Amino acid sequence: MISSTIANLLSKENTLQDVEVKGWVRTFRANRFIALNDGSTIHNIQCVVDFENTDEALLKRITTGAAVHIKGALTESQGKGQRVEIQVSSIDILGDSDPESFPIQPKKHSFEFLRENAHLRTRTSTFSAVMRLRSALSFAIHKYFNENGFYYMHTPIITGSDAEGAGEMFRVTNLDAKNPPLDEAGNVNFKEDFFGKETNLTVSGQLEAETYAMSLGKVYTFGPTFRAENSNTSRHLAEFWMIEPEVAFMDLAGNMDLAEDFMKSVLSYILKHNREDLEFLENRLLEEEKTKPQAERSEMSLIEKIKFVVDNNFKRVSYTEAIDILKNSKPNKKKKFKYLIEEWGADLQSEHERYLVEKHFNCPVILFDYPANIKAFYMRLNEDGKTVRAMDILFPGIGEMVGGSQREERLDVLKEKMKALDIDEEELWWYLDLRKYGTAVHSGFGLGFERLVMFATGMGNIRDVIPFPRTPQNAEF
Ligand code: 4AD
Ligand code: MG
Repeated sequence: MISSTIANLLSKENTLQDVEVKGWVRTFRANRFIALNDGSTIHNIQCVVDFENTDEALLKRITTGAAVHIKGALTESQGKGQRVEIQVSSIDILGDSDPESFPIQPKKHSFEFLRENAHLRTRTSTFSAVMRLRSALSFAIHKYFNENGFYYMHTPIITGSDAEGAGEMFRVTNLDAKNPPLDEAGNVNFKEDFFGKETNLTVSGQLEAETYAMSLGKVYTFGPTFRAENSNTSRHLAEFWMIEPEVAFMDLAGNMDLAEDFMKSVLSYILKHNREDLEFLENRLLEEEKTKPQAERSEMSLIEKIKFVVDNNFKRVSYTEAIDILKNSKPNKKKKFKYLIEEWGADLQSEHERYLVEKHFNCPVILFDYPANIKAFYMRLNEDGKTVRAMDILFPGIGEMVGGSQREERLDVLKEKMKALDIDEEELWWYLDLRKYGTAVHSGFGLGFERLVMFATGMGNIRDVIPFPRTPQNAEF
């Protein structure tokens, strides 16, 4: 007899009758019915214990959270709620779980409480469903790129450059914090540090990915990135995963096509392969929404929202058009925005982005051609001399999901831009080399993986879609 997963046993194709399964007890009811889960599916399998012929001491050890090994006969279920069940012939307790102290009780827990118990929260249906979806999305991402001729490259985690020029980086050092070596001017002498220079955790693999795009053609990275921005919001993490494709000979229009096709593809993958988890999360959301006033409930269910994205074109809108819409919008005229839109050139805050996607367009929106001075140094300057070929993709309920651009491929223009922003040419000599030797139009984007998982699972807080979230004042586990 081979030990099966519960997913296998519950599948219609299963023909096994003598079965063996290992998992964790979710509940044990009436001294008779074990709801067992092993992580392979959202569903528990019901295991029926013949309590009259089972040792009392053993029955007492069947508690929520315990790991058990069950053997028995798979039979059609007499009861409601499941097609099949296991008539238990033997049960081994592999690991006891004290019901008094086990944090995950068979009742509703708040997400805040479960975050404090992030090491055990995947024992709940919601978090196991979220993390299975996270895994499926990762796979779908690699599959998409693999099938479309992209190479997966690993960009460094420790870097000597600041890709976004935003300065929100975590320093990597092994100098003695109490007594660092000083240079003649009295500043910390990083020449004596491990790498002989200042280093940080990467905020983006883009610059390094560009080097490979300019030789391998189509590449992508998918790795952890770090930002020391002190944003305590439901959409920011200090450590998050980013997917960054970079493609030679592709312009901004091609970049938009790629991003849209890519997102539709990975979302259709989960619609096809993760139906049960999505249905579970959809119902969870419906329950949660019942507690909200009618006006705040969403018109579409989770699966409908995902389908909507897959089946409809993203709306492409220039920054200039967006500013016009915002300027004439009700919240702007009635001074409801915290930051009023007065003129062209204003940076868009999340309240503006949300208005555009949630109120005005009600679908994913690709905003492009932003003012040069609110975007990063490497973006391709347009012929108008004041906008750059940047794009942000905004999603209802999420806000910014993707940020990308066509890259400045002209050496002189790039150098000028760096000078204006006080970016050290010597630091980025290798980046400039790409413009000296065989430069060409190229583009790419970065998609925040956790924001995609939020959209796909309907979870409202980014801390609940990554196993162990890192946020200001929190690096537990
Ligand atoms: O817009 P960003 O800063 O773009 C870049 O880093 C580019 N170098 C990407 C590229 O062109 N290759 O970040 C890209 C995306 C955002 O749109 C957002 O989804 C996500 O990364 N993101 C975050 N996600 C979680 N927590 C944070 N603190 C995030 N900051 C950005
Ligand atoms: Mg951005």
